[in-house]
Amino acid sequence: MATTTQTLEYTLPYKNYVDPKVFEEEKKKIFRNSWVLAGHTSQVEKIGDFFTFDIADQPLIISRDKNNEINAFYNICPHRGSKVEKSESGNKRVFMCQYHGWTFQLDGKLNKAPNFNTNELGKHSCMTKVNLEVYKGMIFINLDPAAKPMADTLGDFMKDLEKYTFLESLKKVRVTTRVIEANWKAVIDNYLECDHCKIAHPEFSKTFDMKNYYIDLHDNFSCQYSKMTSKTDEDREEHANFYWVWPNLMVSIYPGEDGNMTTSQILPLAPDKSLAIYSYYFKSDEISKENEELIRFVDQVRLEDFDLVEILQKGFDTQAFERGIYSPTEYAIKYFHRRYEEEMKAD
Ligand code: FES
Ligand SMILES: [Fe+2]
Repeated sequence: MATTTQTLEYTLPYKNYVDPKVFEEEKKKIFRNSWVLAGHTSQVEKIGDFFTFDIADQPLIISRDKNNEINAFYNICPHRGSKVEKSESGNKRVFMCQYHGWTFQLDGKLNKAPNFNTNELGKHSCMTKVNLEVYKGMIFINLDPAAKPMADTLGDFMKDLEKYTFLESLKKVRVTTRVIEANWKAVIDNYLECDHCKIAHPEFSKTFDMKNYYIDLHDNFSCQYSKMTSKTDEDREEHANFYWVWPNLMVSIYPGEDGNMTTSQILPLAPDKSLAIYSYYFKSDEISKENEELIRFVDQVRLEDFDLVEILQKGFDTQAFERGIYSPTEYAIKYFHRRYEEEMKAD
């Protein structure tokens, strides 16, 4: 009888999903070093609009200034380091530090500093700026002062999105958040394969043609798609695309007349804890019945995934195995892991 041999390929070590030292290193080498989604232009439509956003323990303010420019800067006072803005969002003429009353303009520059000669403050005359780029209404930031333009890493993803001309006209209409009791990478791993879909997502598997489900891999992103079983042949051409974007972003785009988008940001809170921010973007503030149904469908799939990753996390901290193995259809996870190792190796 003929036998075939299978070469086993190994996942990241499980200790990378539980070790506090690895977690600290990831914050520096990945989250303070990559282009990450912070928000959307519809959150800062008017002059003075702002929102705050924390990534890898770094608090930020994103605001629209008097010149109609969008800015990102650390939400940290240059006087003695207090956090300046406490609210999640709003509209202001100036930002004021509650400690000694320094005030800042909408672009982060100092407005007034009682007891100081403001001409002699050097770099302490401004909240520290952060790199920012806007693409298709999405606001990305990069905490590395020497960051290369976003197109250097995410250029192919940006090119792929060019075909969706409706993206610029969308508004962020709803946001839900959830703390997941799992490492951020476990959530990404789970997203990057659909071998589990048949077992864990019965409704999803009925809605999409699972025999023709594709995961295309590209530099720094992947795209999953399949035709919907319920639509006509013509409608099926306009299938939904489910993107993963290095390192921690998922973007689902549903094209067509009522084109819309959802983003999922997976933010690291602790080795075994992540914050997921799910945002829904539609053309109008009012969510149609059809789109409410879409949100319900997406939420259901997510709930099923939460259970999976939280159970998965429990396996990372036992002595049973040190790492896992990939199935042939788990190649997108393999890419994510190799990409991760590349970043973590750098000094
Ligand atoms: S720390 Fe902000 S004004 Fe002093
Ligand atoms: Fe899933």
